[in-house]
Amino acid sequence: MPSKHKVRILAIGDIVGRTGRNILSSKLQGIIEINKIDFVIANGENASGGISITPEGVYELLSMGVNVITTGNHIWDKSDILKIIDDEKSLIRPANFPESNRGRGFNIYKYRGINICVINLQGRVHMTPIDCPFRKFDQIYEEVNTKADIIIIDFHAEATSEKKALGWYVDGRASCIFGTHTHVQTSDETILPGGTGYITDIGMTGAFDSVIGMDKDDSIVKFLTQTKIKYRVAKGNPGINGIIATINGNGTTENITRLIEK
Ligand SMILES: [Fe+2]
Ligand SMILES: [Fe+2]
Repeated sequence: MPSKHKVRILAIGDIVGRTGRNILSSKLQGIIEINKIDFVIANGENASGGISITPEGVYELLSMGVNVITTGNHIWDKSDILKIIDDEKSLIRPANFPESNRGRGFNIYKYRGINICVINLQGRVHMTPIDCPFRKFDQIYEEVNTKADIIIIDFHAEATSEKKALGWYVDGRASCIFGTHTHVQTSDETILPGGTGYITDIGMTGAFDSVIGMDKDDSIVKFLTQTKIKYRVAKGNPGINGIIATINGNGTTENITRLIEK
């Protein structure tokens, strides 16, 4: 994967509802300038009302300066997204959903002559048992390897073991793989021996006085009663979680740091 010069990638953890969109809107341009960011990837699976993302949510994030929106298990929860999911190339959904599903699971984006491939995959442990994310990566890698200078993966998964295993599996092939979905940032960011940047989960963008972005009282009621309830998006103590990765001219990660912005 020979590329021409270094690229600074910012990856933003699951944006939860209006609280997440508002804090991102107020801070993103500043973060981009201070950290000399070239390319922004944001997980938007919870951006609209805390569950899924609407076309309006997609355009709002893109207008803030996000280049690519990745998603996850909530992508299908609001059917409005189907209006744009086939045509909006800046929006991707987990690639290992069965073939007949709408939308795309990866895409190659041009940045100053550099081809950046972003792949979205989803785990299967304690989640819907969709196609194998490991074999799906192999298949995509075969297709994009000669075209892409940089390969970035958002692995949307629950189990730390599955995330660690996929990290090792793609080491030396992907430039960087970061986890999403748990909404809790892990402190295990590292560069694997083959040069792949890795972190188990980059965290969440939304209210931190919450239970993973949703109203804490709603969540407590849910655990106490064990009945289905409608969660409200939390508002208190908003912040941004993510990572910044510097990708080298040879397509490997030179540096990976966690971002916590309040
Ligand atoms: Fe999420
Ligand atoms: Fe998720």
